[in-house]
Amino acid sequence: MKFLDTREEIVDLAASLFQRGYSVGSAGNISVRVDGGYLITPTNSSLGRLDAGRLSLVDLGWNHISGDAPSKEVVMHRAMYEARPDTGAIVHLHSTHVTALSCLTPNGEPLLQPHTPYLVMRLGENIPLVPYYKPGDPNMESDIFEAAKEARAIVLGNHGSIVAGPTLVNAVDSAEELEVSAKLALLLRGRDTRPLTSEEINALMSR
Ligand code: 13P
Repeated sequence: MKFLDTREEIVDLAASLFQRGYSVGSAGNISVRVDGGYLITPTNSSLGRLDAGRLSLVDLGWNHISGDAPSKEVVMHRAMYEARPDTGAIVHLHSTHVTALSCLTPNGEPLLQPHTPYLVMRLGENIPLVPYYKPGDPNMESDIFEAAKEARAIVLGNHGSIVAGPTLVNAVDSAEELEVSAKLALLLRGRDTRPLTSEEINALMSR
């Protein structure tokens, strides 16, 4: 599918995530870097029912320029763009299996083992877990910034995921891969498994 413009692309991909159960209600938000700033989904909007003309436009300093009021998670998005200057888009979801895993994993313990190639190829070997913060809490900024320097996907304790990509399509694909990997981790929990070996992981990284 060729998107005519970034606003339509946000609306279409957000609706696709919503229709397939990756977000429910008004959970989740999306941002895309555009000339002179960022487009971000409005606070309390449903990813299933966005209006292209009402998306929030903020300037490079994240000041609101037009559209509805931006997501309360602007600080989280900003920290990720600042830590990873190659980021073109960010997807934040409360998808079920990632969130379940974020509730089961103590701080500091590895969240996901490298079991499958697409997890490693898309998101790297380690997905950091940032401790719980109230949604929109500006105090999370430094934790997100530090974690994002090491990884393009972060899991937020008792909350969900935040995934960066060079394009929105890439960030959406990676957020979906993270959710499916979390589902797999829950299916495999407590079982003897064979994670990928370091050699297999190195071969994927040097693709
Ligand atoms: P917003 O509606 O403000 O974007 O917040 C939704 C959300 O997912 C909070 O984590």
